[in-house]
Amino acid sequence: MKENTPQQNVTEPDPKFIAQQLRKPSGNFALNVGQKMNLVNKPLYDLTYDVIELDENDHILEIGFGTGKFFGKLFDLNSKIKVRGLDYSEKMVEAASKANEDLISNGKLDLKLGNSNSIPFEDQTFEKVFCNMVIYFWDEPEDHLNEIRRVLKPGGLFYSGHRTRESMMVFPFVEHGFNLYSIQEWKEILNENEFTIQQIHKRFDPQIEIDDNKLQLESCCILAGK
Ligand SMILES: C[S@@+](CC[C@H](N)C(=O)[O-])C[C@H]1O[C@@H](n2cnc3c(N)ncnc32)[C@H](O)[C@@H]1O
Repeated sequence: MKENTPQQNVTEPDPKFIAQQLRKPSGNFALNVGQKMNLVNKPLYDLTYDVIELDENDHILEIGFGTGKFFGKLFDLNSKIKVRGLDYSEKMVEAASKANEDLISNGKLDLKLGNSNSIPFEDQTFEKVFCNMVIYFWDEPEDHLNEIRRVLKPGGLFYSGHRTRESMMVFPFVEHGFNLYSIQEWKEILNENEFTIQQIHKRFDPQIEIDDNKLQLESCCILAGK
């Protein structure tokens, strides 16, 4: 990432600042970081959307939707679903609401500001909950996983998308507050929190170039049942 950060007035944003922005985009840099996330995380959304099986009238929750760029594609999979989103970044809720005005005005999509350790929905509301690139920021994952279990209907499914520890280690910012997991470690945490692992999907992303380095990340989507 080469952009200037007004907060620091230097040419290279420092890794700690990038980590804070990825955790919770805020201030002038938020939209910039959001656009980068869209680019880098598109292959993970592609994987999640290839894996997710949507039934008509499914009620779906996405946690940590960022700019909300990928909601449209979710409705391309099934136009009859209802989708709700939760993100604790005011800037992201604002950007995603603007980017999805039509879906929101026709009642198909509703976006809320809030933390996934206290999900503002009734018990047993959703058939499916998913999140991409969010689990790293859950310092106490059990609080978030309990909430996800609570809002899932019996037999509901949780799809957690992330890049593996090995993939993420190439980024200097992960030293600043990222909880990284191997697939095995994340599976164990899901199991400890009473989820049953149903499927594990892995796929190498197309190669990307960041700061003149060519990278190939590995996307992973773990499907767990309540
Ligand atoms: C790295 S970004 C990923 C955004 C998008 N899912 C993607 O893959 O491009 C993490 C997003 O999750 C949100 N987030 C992180 N922790 C959260 C929490 N506890 N509750 C709600 N949103 C959270 C952040 O505000 C941010 O929008």
